[in-house]
Amino acid sequence: MSIINKCLFPAAGYGTRFLPATKAMPKEMLPIVTKPLIQYGVEEAMEAGITSMAIVTGRGKRALEDHFDISWELEHQISGTDKEALLVDIRRIMAECTFSYTRQHQMKGLGHAILTGETLIGDEAFAVILADDYCVAEGDGVLTQMVSLYQQYRCNIVAIEEVSADVVQHYGIIDGDEEADGIYRLRNMVEKPAPEDAPSNLAIIGRYILTPDIFEIIRHTPADKNGEMQITDALLTQAKQGKVIGYKFKGRRFDCGSVKGYIEATNYTYAQQKP
Ligand code: G1P
Repeated sequence: MSIINKCLFPAAGYGTRFLPATKAMPKEMLPIVTKPLIQYGVEEAMEAGITSMAIVTGRGKRALEDHFDISWELEHQISGTDKEALLVDIRRIMAECTFSYTRQHQMKGLGHAILTGETLIGDEAFAVILADDYCVAEGDGVLTQMVSLYQQYRCNIVAIEEVSADVVQHYGIIDGDEEADGIYRLRNMVEKPAPEDAPSNLAIIGRYILTPDIFEIIRHTPADKNGEMQITDALLTQAKQGKVIGYKFKGRRFDCGSVKGYIEATNYTYAQQKP
């Protein structure tokens, strides 16, 4: 058993930047070459020793559940053909992992999505993957790196990367003291600051390890000016007590929530796969 057993995937968002593609299809099912974004996330979690996947879905997201289930017609159709090789990865995922789902009825922010997942997580530390942040690494995957850091620090960990000053308003931005190479003890965290208010150019990206007390803190964290509950605001309470580490991960992240990042991820992945 890994020290972290469960991974939460907030996946209820609409993906409006990809309309009309996401009109009837979850944005997490957008493929990078032939594999949907959510599957890359699940594989990253598995590599980190996690086998229990907890997915927060919403209306119009049933394809996610179908993806991690057997399609008997398809199995029958391709049985014994060379196409079977294409299903090797997904079959392995289904053999090794369990999937549980809960629905977020209203889009009230990432903090609210994570709180909705409490029923699937319970009272243990857990990982969070935002599948539209697609991460690649040459050695260990980003979540594997973070789980081994958790073994050492036993507190909340957020993945961070440097971004240019003109995009800080799209991210949670952190400030802290660098305790070791690329490892920061956070003091401040601001969700989507105006460039002049940003405490640094270190942005949170969609990988977290959270301790279960975060649920109670989210419940008591006021919503922002848009009525959304932000995980960044809840984590700030923890950061003030020295309980959040920011980790400059080794690897590369593609922002697949944007069309540009998605195309870059596709081109990169296709180039890697070409024989
Ligand atoms: C969320 C978080 C933000 C983080 C970002 C990473 O924002 O609220 O702090 O920097 O994910 O992708 P979203 O992109 O969902 O608006």
